[in-house]
Amino acid sequence: MSLNTSPAAAAARDKKAAANDIFEKCRTFTRPADLQHAGLYMYFETFGDREGCEPGEVRLGGSKVLMFGSNDYLDLITDPRVKEAAGQAIRKYGSGCSGSRLLNGTLDLHVKVEAELAAFVRKESAIIFGTGFQANYAALSALTEKGDVMLCDHNLHASLVEGALRSSARVMRFRHNDLDHFERCLNNCGPDDKVLVVSEGVFSMEGDLADLRGLVTLAKPAGARIYVDEAHGLGVLGPTGAGAAEQLGTLDEVDLVMGTFSKALASVGGFVAGPRAVIDYLKHTARPFVFSASLPAASVAAAGAALEIIKQEPERRVGLLKIAAQLRQELRNQGFSVLDGETAIVPVVIRDEIDLCRLSKALLAEGIYINPVLKPAAAQNLLRISCTAAHTEAHIARLVSTLMKVVEELGIER
Ligand SMILES: Cc1ncc(COP(=O)(O)O)c(C=O)c1O
Repeated sequence: MSLNTSPAAAAARDKKAAANDIFEKCRTFTRPADLQHAGLYMYFETFGDREGCEPGEVRLGGSKVLMFGSNDYLDLITDPRVKEAAGQAIRKYGSGCSGSRLLNGTLDLHVKVEAELAAFVRKESAIIFGTGFQANYAALSALTEKGDVMLCDHNLHASLVEGALRSSARVMRFRHNDLDHFERCLNNCGPDDKVLVVSEGVFSMEGDLADLRGLVTLAKPAGARIYVDEAHGLGVLGPTGAGAAEQLGTLDEVDLVMGTFSKALASVGGFVAGPRAVIDYLKHTARPFVFSASLPAASVAAAGAALEIIKQEPERRVGLLKIAAQLRQELRNQGFSVLDGETAIVPVVIRDEIDLCRLSKALLAEGIYINPVLKPAAAQNLLRISCTAAHTEAHIARLVSTLMKVVEELGIER
């Protein structure tokens, strides 16, 4: 076969090759660059070390900024006890495990912290994963099979959604926290269907609590099992800090409790706790667990140390919830539209997307970092303020006055 080497033929070939190139969509993906040009890009801010930073502050570029966007709810990431536990674990075990838990990657430390986590959420057994995302994805996809039904709240985190999509169960989504709709979905299941109900304890964007009492009351008589993601409740809510299910008096009735290490536990990793038979099943069948290297000792030890502090220092969560309630009230007093809630997450509704981006940028210029959450990540555009135990009344006062000033300057509707 002879190739037509004329310039026109070569150009046509190049054009066709470009159009058929799997990378073409990447070259035409200009949304981040467009936002950068408009001065509205708010992602991948690069933080530096925390040397010399006061509690509540982080370093961004050359300056220190007040952090109202972190999920380090109990201010434990820089706690000397947590850092020392991580350092000591590296010295004793080395920097990684180089293998799957199933084969050569299980340390005595994994086993110890799993037992502590299980006891903390009053379950028989627990399994640690590499991240919270992995925990949800692995557990939902491994636990359910063809013919089963998964009943999911509409506002679930992406890790739960992906786990549900990966599973071959029939997935039904009930309207967010809508018990009537939940009941109708439950009644639509066949008498022999095996049902898993999935909810977050604290919803990650809006910060509202699931109606776990309602879910338990309807689901349990129907024989359904309940899985609760406590990413944002663990360490923060409940008489002992065990999460939203404990706060709502349903901890013993929910079957599986998932938690992440990346928030109140000041590390990285995730876990699922529940009946021993279920956890043993996951340990042998959850593919992201079986076919992935185990969590390094430093991360496990840091989470273990944070867990000890959670048990011993309830004043951290009490102070955190008090400061969050105070912020919620002061923002409302100034006419801001703040979503209802009783958690560390204080979301302010900013209707217009561009206004929200401008606002976040302007706040940062004033030395305050807050995450903007754009639809469809939440049902409304939100300035998602997240409080931590490091925040003081002075921080709250600075945040509220800066917010008022910036909103005024930018002409943004409250
Ligand atoms: C509700 C919820 N579940 C799971 C995760 C995933 O946790 P991780 O970031 O530790 O992987 C998150 C993270 O933001 C979350 O908000």
